[in-house]
Amino acid sequence: MTKKLYIETVGCQMNVLDSELVVASLRKEGYELTDNTRDADTILFNTCSVRQHAEDKIYSALGRLKNAKQSNPKKIIGVLGCMAQKDQRLIFERAPYVDLIVGPGQLHQVPQLIKEISAGGEPRLEVSLGRKDGSRSDIEESHESFDPLRDPEMRPTPYQAYVRIMIGCDKFCTYCIVPSVRGPEQSRPPSQILTEARQLAGEGCKEIVLLGQTVNSYQHTENGRRWRLSDLIYALHELAGIERIKFVTNYPKDMTDDLLAAVAELPKCSKYLHVPVQSGSNRMLERMKRGYTVEDYREMMDRIRDRVPDFAVTSDFIVGFCGETEGDFQLTCELVREQRFKNSFIFKYSERPGTRGADLFPDDVPEEVKKRRNNELLAIQNAISEADNQPFLGREVDVLVEGPSKASVKQQEADAQQVQLTGRTMCDRIVVFDGNRRQIGQTLPVTIYDANAHTLFGTVVTQHVGPELFSLEPISKPPNRVNILKNFIPK
Ligand code: SAH
Ligand code: SF4
Ligand code: F3S
Repeated sequence: MTKKLYIETVGCQMNVLDSELVVASLRKEGYELTDNTRDADTILFNTCSVRQHAEDKIYSALGRLKNAKQSNPKKIIGVLGCMAQKDQRLIFERAPYVDLIVGPGQLHQVPQLIKEISAGGEPRLEVSLGRKDGSRSDIEESHESFDPLRDPEMRPTPYQAYVRIMIGCDKFCTYCIVPSVRGPEQSRPPSQILTEARQLAGEGCKEIVLLGQTVNSYQHTENGRRWRLSDLIYALHELAGIERIKFVTNYPKDMTDDLLAAVAELPKCSKYLHVPVQSGSNRMLERMKRGYTVEDYREMMDRIRDRVPDFAVTSDFIVGFCGETEGDFQLTCELVREQRFKNSFIFKYSERPGTRGADLFPDDVPEEVKKRRNNELLAIQNAISEADNQPFLGREVDVLVEGPSKASVKQQEADAQQVQLTGRTMCDRIVVFDGNRRQIGQTLPVTIYDANAHTLFGTVVTQHVGPELFSLEPISKPPNRVNILKNFIPK
């Protein structure tokens, strides 16, 4: 008998990929996805600990399930991911009806654990070793990369896929919980990554996004050859079917010239670089232990500008970090005005117990000040994003079509053939235009007629109808896709 699975995902792209893979492994066990907790036999939360807010959201969702579990004790409730690794038994204490707590390094165990619990087994806790709980190699081994075979139906679009090239992080920025919950930095062997990408290309995937917390720190030696991220990109570029290659997130200090040369030279490589600077004040960068100065970051931006034509850079910022003065904040505003990022993700500092930042510095910037700085920086960034999108008016751009736009999904047009579509340019700008479902997955020329801070609006350039556009085959309905991202909150 088929069983029903409900999954909710918060956090970063790593978690989105983990959820895709967990769902794929449970589908092999006969599970089908449902989009409501009522019908579900198993309810899973794939969690994030990067800020308090992400944790609060999951604890409230768990609270709402108390009655459901009381009326149906057979429902299995599981907490996966970074908060499972961070809070461990505390989750059982706060929500005693949880059956399953599994850290990000143990996700391969999920199907077996659910089977055992369904058969009447005890609640289970499976997590990896903490960063001080053993030798480096023991800790590394306890964080297993979870990359089984892929399931194209479980992606929001079959034409795009995340591919993990690294797990963990060794940078230990003082505010950040990721190194403790995701474990030591480990690069996957290039042969495995290439096999996975080849399989994805064979399934019709056109864009791959390489994932790592500091993706440009990638290095792996295999059969005596040392591979850097640039080497990997050159190899992936050879794969037929793959049209675009992106990679996130970059660490400023590891933005080497060989990588910039690959980005500039290779036509399939997206000209988009996400390189978070976090602050424009050297005093804050030092406290954050980011390992570079604002001058280093400027020098890196100059190199990108010199080498990569039509590039777009985006950044993350933390406002209200411990001891941040108005003067420090103004330096951040200046950097944003000067560097004109395509966009910026701005976060209010959230103290994370167990980090060096929490131990060393008081969280002393009041919440209202954090909020005000967040809004001010966002306003500066939005004005820049809007102004820098204006030169696109009248220009033709190549758009890889991802699917119906958010607006058309909301308007319940999901089944209509004529829909508003959304896709991205080579520099990762979002483009919205009217089109036909059959165009999803194609790369189309689109002329831009309007733009705001976040979106370009365009019309498809009418072309001579070639055989690929004029197909006599019946229009097949898209597979009945349950969007695992329905509940995903980016960043
Ligand atoms: N590995 C990536 C991203 C890590 S998490 C990197 O190094 O850039 C994504 C973003 O969340 C970070 O870039 C940072 O801006 C933000 N962040 C991390 N810890 C945070 C905290 N304690 N409070 C607020 N924002 C935080
Ligand atoms: Fe966190 Fe810093 Fe590692 Fe990014 S590089 S995951 S911010 S510790
Ligand atoms: Fe959150 Fe874990 Fe990603 S803490 S940001 S889901 S690595």
